[in-house]
Amino acid sequence: MNFEGKTVCITGAATGIGRGCAIVFAQHGARLKLIDINTEKLESVKEELTEYGVDVEIFTCDVSDEAKVNAVAEKIGHVDVLVNNAALWRCWQSFMETPVSEWKQFMDINVMGVVYMTRAFLPGMLEKEYGRIINVGSVAGVYGNANMVHYSTTKGALIAMTKALAKEVADKGITVNCVSPGSVSPAENPDIDYTEPSILSFMNRTGSDRENANLICFLASDEASYISAQNIQIDGCRKKQ
Ligand SMILES: NC(=O)c1ccc[n+]([C@@H]2O[C@H](COP(=O)([O-])OP(=O)(O)OC[C@H]3O[C@@H](n4cnc5c(N)ncnc54)[C@H](O)[C@@H]3O)[C@@H](O)[C@H]2O)c1
Repeated sequence: MNFEGKTVCITGAATGIGRGCAIVFAQHGARLKLIDINTEKLESVKEELTEYGVDVEIFTCDVSDEAKVNAVAEKIGHVDVLVNNAALWRCWQSFMETPVSEWKQFMDINVMGVVYMTRAFLPGMLEKEYGRIINVGSVAGVYGNANMVHYSTTKGALIAMTKALAKEVADKGITVNCVSPGSVSPAENPDIDYTEPSILSFMNRTGSDRENANLICFLASDEASYISAQNIQIDGCRKKQ
């Protein structure tokens, strides 16, 4: 995989899978545009990436704010690869305990955030007849997680959005895919594939940020040119909940 000369935009790049993606894309020579609401952590990711000698720009932006997304997109210009990774997910409460305001917040960030980002960058991809869009979903969007009904709903929507949009742009050189992680353990040290024991997978462990980033990077590469409209689960052979 080689991303030299390619511009890659990643949302939610300050921590976790997004940060893992920034590192793996940098290792493959990509020019990076990193977006997050957490400026401090974005800055430390930028610092971490200096060793790879690639061009990195960071942008503080809430993806659920359409006007801000459009303003940042104008500064960024054309991107070849868009990774829609930013989301809210740490929430465990029953359906009736979940306030409507929280439903709206999850829909705004996890679904509309992807809509705004994609609307901002798709026209440039269509013009160049080249593009890779990778949405980060979840096994929750496939199986449905109890006590995460609103989250599961947003990820199910994202998987459907991926498949539908992919069909609209398939003959324009643009692929759209979704990567749906199972349980992932965030790595402090990006050089270590950090995982933990887990009863939720037949591999008896969680996945690492880097394992997820490797799949996202592959789908963004020219090597994945004939793969589109797919939701690929990366879950260590999940025990369906
Ligand atoms: N970690 C897991 O176990 C797991 C499992 C399944 C799916 N996922 C999905 O993977 C993706 C990344 O998960 P993670 O565990 O790395 O998450 P994380 O919480 O570690 O990172 C998410 C990043 O998104 C940023 N963010 C949140 N809201 C934002 C907004 N409105 N605008 C811009 N940035 C925003 C956060 O600041 C954070 O840096 C998410 O889409 C999540 O739903 C994660």
